[in-house]
Amino acid sequence: MIDLFPVDKADFPEPVIVTGAGGCIGSWVLHLLQRAGVNVIALDLHKDTRRPSLLMTDEELSSVVWLDGDIANPNTIRNAVKKHEAGAIIHLAALQVPFCKADPILGAQVNVVGTTNVLEAAREHGIKRLAYASSIAAHGVFNPETVSTLYGAYKFCNEETAKVYMQDWGVPSTCLRPGVVYGIGRDQGMTSKTTVAILAAAMKQSYTIPFNGPVSWLHAGEVASAFIQSVSTPRDAARVFDINGVIATVEESIKKIEAIAPNSKIDAEGSALPFPTDLSDQPLRDYLGDYGSVDLDHGIKHTYENFCRLINLGKLDSQSIS
Ligand SMILES: NC(=O)c1ccc[n+]([C@@H]2O[C@H](COP(=O)([O-])OP(=O)(O)OC[C@H]3O[C@@H](n4cnc5c(N)ncnc54)[C@H](O)[C@@H]3O)[C@@H](O)[C@H]2O)c1
Repeated sequence: MIDLFPVDKADFPEPVIVTGAGGCIGSWVLHLLQRAGVNVIALDLHKDTRRPSLLMTDEELSSVVWLDGDIANPNTIRNAVKKHEAGAIIHLAALQVPFCKADPILGAQVNVVGTTNVLEAAREHGIKRLAYASSIAAHGVFNPETVSTLYGAYKFCNEETAKVYMQDWGVPSTCLRPGVVYGIGRDQGMTSKTTVAILAAAMKQSYTIPFNGPVSWLHAGEVASAFIQSVSTPRDAARVFDINGVIATVEESIKKIEAIAPNSKIDAEGSALPFPTDLSDQPLRDYLGDYGSVDLDHGIKHTYENFCRLINLGKLDSQSIS
């Protein structure tokens, strides 16, 4: 799988800071950068390497510098960039939909103030390689087919803020709006349930996916690779792109899981996810060049087989299914 996402160490003469490095996409970014020999600094609220350790050995993890810090505190990213003389930032730290709903003020502090802190650190230190995660949920602000959420409103606010940082202070950035991400490490947020279903099949447990209909299947390695390519060269604009992956219905994907695990008991109930699924990745591919892509059969099979391996190693158990 990792061969699909080549990273050239020569493109990264200075360290890369990854915020939210303990999360799903962050773990894949660490994995790809570390394998390529890039100097990578992991930043997260706490040093929790449970997700990265699903992809990396202890030895590989030990070569990553780890910083604990709250992204909502401006000094966290400012000091990290200064101390490590970072040349690039991949900003992924965020609270997802249910957490923003449960605590709107904390959600705004982490998702909005946190991103402003990253932009401000880039401004202070003249960083020209900055990528950050928005979301397909940002479409809720302007697309009536997409549900409005605080999470989506915060993400859209960040996109507008980043445009002003470019306009007023020449801070370039590349914003990716991922659709539904799946793969090893995806375990929280409202759209994680397609991955949970693959894990349930690997655990030989029954599971009901709480939605139906079309879903964008975006492999975590693919989106991580796109974030890395976004900072592989200095940029001169603030750009925003959708990144959607492969479209398949929940029903189609259950058939794919059953083809790999014939005794699995996965079904689905409920209505379709309130997000568009027909968003093209082409504008992003035109901007970045090739960042790899994962065929859905291969992506589900790889995820299933690695879940089985990790269960055998005792790194995953039924607690991981919720
Ligand atoms: N996974 C998806 O399907 C998806 C889809 C669209 C957008 N995104 C966005 O991509 C980014 C990464 O997503 P993910 O799936 O890896 O998320 P995740 O929830 O797995 O990881 C987020 C990480 O951010 C960290 N974090 C939370 N609060 C923090 C704080 N105050 N300071 C520092 N770190 C903090 C968490 O500890 C966690 O490790 C997020 O910005 C998310 O909103 C994800």
